[in-house]
Amino acid sequence: MGSRLKGKSAIVTGSATGIGKATAVLFAKEGAGVVVSDVDEPGGQQVVAAIQAEGGDAIFVGADVSQAADVERLAEATARTYGRLNVLVNNAAVYRGDGNILSVPDEIWDRIMAVNLKGTYLCCKFAIARMIQSGGGSIVNLSSVNALMGLSLTAYTASKGGVQALTRFLAVEFAPKGIRVNSICPGTIMTENSIAIYRERPGLEERVTKMYPMEKLGAPRDVAECALFLASDESSFVTGASFVVDGGLMAGRRFELDYT
Ligand SMILES: NC(=O)c1ccc[n+]([C@@H]2O[C@H](COP(=O)([O-])OP(=O)(O)OC[C@H]3O[C@@H](n4cnc5c(N)ncnc54)[C@H](O)[C@@H]3O)[C@@H](O)[C@H]2O)c1
Repeated sequence: MGSRLKGKSAIVTGSATGIGKATAVLFAKEGAGVVVSDVDEPGGQQVVAAIQAEGGDAIFVGADVSQAADVERLAEATARTYGRLNVLVNNAAVYRGDGNILSVPDEIWDRIMAVNLKGTYLCCKFAIARMIQSGGGSIVNLSSVNALMGLSLTAYTASKGGVQALTRFLAVEFAPKGIRVNSICPGTIMTENSIAIYRERPGLEERVTKMYPMEKLGAPRDVAECALFLASDESSFVTGASFVVDGGLMAGRRFELDYT
C-alpha cells in the first residue's frame, strides 16, 4: 500500500469496469477512501469487494451521472461517509451507436451529450460546492484524443471537446479556491469492453495499433497512473492542463525520408 492519496476521499464515476475500475483500485492502493459509482451496481459492488479484500477503503454509490438528483445523492453519500470530498474523476461515458453524422440517430447524440458532457457538468457542480467547503480539491476529467484530432465518432468527439473547454474554464474560475481541474486524453485503451469489441471485428486491432508510434495500445493502468498524479498533491501547481496518454499518437506520424 502506498500513501500518495492518504487522507483523501475520491469519487470515480463509471468505475465498475475499464479505466474507472483501474483508477478506483489504484487510488485505494494509495490510501484514498474511494467512492465507486456507476449505473452497473453488481459490477461496482465487485470492484468495492476487490478493493476491500486488498485492505483498501471503498463504498459503492449507484448514480446515473446524467441525472441531477442521482449526482446530488452521490455527493451527499460521499460527504456522509468521508466527511469531505477531495478528488472527483469524471470517467463515466458512452459511445455506443455513434458514428458518421449522416447516420447517427438524434437520440444517440442526445444520450452521449447527456452522459459525457452534462454528466461531467453535473458532477463538477455538486463536487465543487463540497470542495469549496473542504478548502480545495482536484477534478480529473476523462476526455479523449478524439477531442484533439478528427478521428471518428461524431457525438462522442463533440462531447469530449466540450469536456476540454469546461476543464479549462473551471480551472480558471476556481483556481483561487484551491480547486484544480485537469483532463486526460487517452488514445486507444484495451479495457474489458474494447477487447470484446475488437474480438467481434477481426483485423481491427492490428489496423488501429498501426496508427500508434509505439506500435501498441494502452492499458487501463496507464491512464489510472496519470489520474493518480493529477489527483495527488504532486501536481499541486498543475491546473487547466490536458495530458495525452496515447503512445505518441498526437505527436505525429513516423515518415521515413532519407536526404543522403
Ligand atoms: N477505452 C478507450 O480506448 C478510451 C479512449 C479515450 C477516452 N476514453 C474515456 O475514458 C473513460 C473510460 O473509458 P472506458 O473505455 O473505461 O469505458 P467503459 O465503457 O469500459 O466503462 C464505462 C463505465 O461507465 C459506466 N456508465 C455508463 N453510463 C453511465 C452513466 N450514465 N452514469 C454512470 N456510469 C455510467 C458504465 O456502466 C461503465 O462501467 C471514458 O470517459 C472514455 O470516453 C476511453
